[in-house]
Amino acid sequence: MRMYDIIAKKRDGGKLSQQEIQFAVNGYVAGQVPDYQMSALLMAIYLRGMDAQETAILTDCMARSGDQVDLSAIPGVKVDKHSTGGVGDKTTLVVAPLVAACGAKIAKMSGRGLGHTGGTIDKMESIPGMRTSLDQRAFFEQVEKIGLAVIGQTGNLAPADKKMYALRDVTATVGCIPLIASSIMSKKLAAGADAILLDVKTGNGAFMKTLEDSIQLAKAMVEIGEHNGRRTAALVTDMDTPLGFAVGNSLEVAEVVRTLKGEGPQDLTSVCLDLAAGLLELSGLAADFPAAMAMAKKALESGVGLAKLRQMVAAQGGDVAVIDNPDRFEQAKICQPVYVPKDGYICRTDTEQIGIAAVQLGAGREKKEDAVDFSAGIVLCKKAGDWVHKGDTLAWLYTSSEEKALAARQTFLSALTFGDTPPAAMPLVLAKVTKDGIERFDQ
Ligand code: URA
Repeated sequence: MRMYDIIAKKRDGGKLSQQEIQFAVNGYVAGQVPDYQMSALLMAIYLRGMDAQETAILTDCMARSGDQVDLSAIPGVKVDKHSTGGVGDKTTLVVAPLVAACGAKIAKMSGRGLGHTGGTIDKMESIPGMRTSLDQRAFFEQVEKIGLAVIGQTGNLAPADKKMYALRDVTATVGCIPLIASSIMSKKLAAGADAILLDVKTGNGAFMKTLEDSIQLAKAMVEIGEHNGRRTAALVTDMDTPLGFAVGNSLEVAEVVRTLKGEGPQDLTSVCLDLAAGLLELSGLAADFPAAMAMAKKALESGVGLAKLRQMVAAQGGDVAVIDNPDRFEQAKICQPVYVPKDGYICRTDTEQIGIAAVQLGAGREKKEDAVDFSAGIVLCKKAGDWVHKGDTLAWLYTSSEEKALAARQTFLSALTFGDTPPAAMPLVLAKVTKDGIERFDQ
């Protein structure tokens, strides 16, 4: 078999066989297929696509390219949740404790911020002392004992994806549904959960900008999960505006605590309850969605979700004093208001630009090796749809230098459009995709 022939077959619109996909992926991980040939194949896939069977085979090859976590030693249903990435998306830190408090087991591996989007591991590391790297024994023991552990991805989980993702990042081949679906699902399959709920973000702050593409991505991922014997579903949720008010690591953890106390922003609370209920339904711990929603709401209202977060923080060495009182988080050196420039409705938010403004303040990385400033970020006071008066406080910027504040202020202001009419109201959950089909809530 020759890599040349595999590339030519896909270039001409052919369907790749299992042997051909295995040859390309295994050869690439082993260093026998060079970057330039894998790049050519990725571009051919980007342009020609892959059908469901090819995508499933590619995912399986990538999932088997490294360690596969076997969670069967932990009793009970193990569930996982994955977001495709957004701005202000702190849902994992609300949903995982809620679901664990209801009896599900969460042994979760999360990622760091990517580009303009934040990552759960960076948010967790803003808690002083918090360990996000546990060896397998400690990880399993914690899940058995308290039902919940969230750690960073171990080094050898789906190494084929790691190598291929790095190549896609620099060859303009990221935005391709079969490649994104196989990349995400290879890691989810290797991480071993029985049930997986995907939160596919859609809108101008998401990876997938249109609802149709987001639904297609959700469908591709659900098919892969189900094909591999995992109960899988997806919610397609709004990312046309940041989720909640806080963007930036410790600022978001403080908002998580408020949300688990029942005092969080309405949009964040609502999406988290939908995700928690979706997971409980998928896990079989609730008979149907209304029963699952009742369980999730009870866990929120009774405070057991917050107690579970506190328990996880303590188990992973974090300082629970900041959970008990988020004012104890280290404060940013500079905290500046941004004022509304003119009267009107906030008609549109360019959410990606808001994510970039947060990165400029220090909340994310401009380069891979940059350190994150955990106290940096943005707290919004007004959001899309609000009527605002010139001079009102629009947001607060938190950072370590005047220079960063100045750059971020310009980016932030350029992200907002003011006008005479409010934007059309859209639901926060726009679609649900399961093995039985697609339910849309946008019409
Ligand atoms: N996240 C991933 O893990 N992979 C992709 O391809 C895109 C987003």
